[in-house]
Amino acid sequence: MELPFAESWKIKMVEPIRKSTREEREQWLKDANYNVFQLSADQVYIDCLTDSGTGAMSDRQWAALMMGDESYAGSRSFFELRDVITRLTGFEYVIPTHQGRAAENVLFSALIKACDVCPGNSHFDTTKGHIESRKAVALDCTVDEAKDTQLEVPFKGNVDINKLEKALAENADKVPFIIVTITNNTAGGQPVSMQNLRDVRRVADKYGKRVIFDSARFAENAYFIKTREEGYADKSIKEITREMFSLADGMTMSAKKDGIVNMGGFIATRHQDWYEAAKNFCIPFEGYLTYGGMNGRDMAALAVGLDENTEFDNLDTRIKQVQYLASLLDEYGIPYQRPAGGHAIFVDASKILTNVPKEEFPAQTLTIELYREAGVRGCEIGYILADRDPITRENRFGGLDLLRLAIARRVYTDNHMKVIAVALKNVFDRRHEITRGVEIVWEAPLMRHFTVKLRPLG
Ligand code: F0G
Repeated sequence: MELPFAESWKIKMVEPIRKSTREEREQWLKDANYNVFQLSADQVYIDCLTDSGTGAMSDRQWAALMMGDESYAGSRSFFELRDVITRLTGFEYVIPTHQGRAAENVLFSALIKACDVCPGNSHFDTTKGHIESRKAVALDCTVDEAKDTQLEVPFKGNVDINKLEKALAENADKVPFIIVTITNNTAGGQPVSMQNLRDVRRVADKYGKRVIFDSARFAENAYFIKTREEGYADKSIKEITREMFSLADGMTMSAKKDGIVNMGGFIATRHQDWYEAAKNFCIPFEGYLTYGGMNGRDMAALAVGLDENTEFDNLDTRIKQVQYLASLLDEYGIPYQRPAGGHAIFVDASKILTNVPKEEFPAQTLTIELYREAGVRGCEIGYILADRDPITRENRFGGLDLLRLAIARRVYTDNHMKVIAVALKNVFDRRHEITRGVEIVWEAPLMRHFTVKLRPLG
């Protein structure tokens, strides 16, 4: 008999979590103005808000923490981190930053000017924010398949090469770089194939452009290349990451995801001119070049985290857990962005709460119902997150309306996955009775989802 699959680690330290009653949750929801970002974490039983900074470090990472070198300049921990990054990516120049958006801020300050156009697959919110705040355009060239949640294709995060080529043909002198997000978070944690990265490189070379990878989940992307793309089954994850980054000029990184640290990020590049330009912004914004916003100990833990999380077994455990949750949703007939992504399941609220009009925010309503049901906190990636059109000030109802269940790395067990799935099933089973959603009582002009105040209707 074949042995069953099991985690590639055992547990050394645990953190108690607490269940609550429905009455308590009802009150807490009211106090939070029906916005789960406003809940205190103690009011949450299983937290699927994000996979960012929520992972569990290994014993080797905690040990590395004790060895951190806190020297202001020339920290040994910086050189250890730089060496690991160079080994995984081939990039020689590294600038640490306090998180991913800080890497964007530093590098984009050097590269983007007003009226520029930055094409790529779906830009993450902060990436888009850092492009748009410089009065430039973030042009989404993701493949159309990503919009159909029920379509089962292996690399739904890909860049549409025709759209990219058109963008470059029309805006060639306005494009400072092409940016590819691996994996494509906004499209559902969907991977980008090596072939697609090669095609992006070819088009970039044709127009003399450089390519940046937004690499928050690059190791998960490499796992999908190994397990789904022809010719990669026998390659190690580290060989694959090296090949992926050989097709880019530089990267921004939120280390809070695939670095498995609670805080941190960096820029890396092969080009001295980019490095020199970014240096000028790192020092005033983040700090001196050999710490740039990170403690020495955190750089030490990150060096180990990057090395560990580019080993197959660690990634296999992680992705299989996300796929396990997906298999339970399949059993209950609950629709989500298919196939399951790397870091999360994106539940298709518009296909579940069909009686809730889009003006009443179905995905947010589902997020509230799931919390009410079992204290499971997900996150709306839908019409509230989409903000208003900057010119017409109308709500943007054009995209997908999803509930994201992000899975923290090495934190929850498969039993927690069962609780999440059954809680969602209980809501799903009474979906037809849910006919009203929420209305906005107060909202910020930008990034409203963090602080929006809502009122339940009906
Ligand atoms: N790029 C991607 C693809 C991301 O998913 C994120 C963060 C960032 C950049 C910014 O990095 O948070 O370290 O500043 N995503 C988190 C999420 C917040 O929940 O998906 P950061």
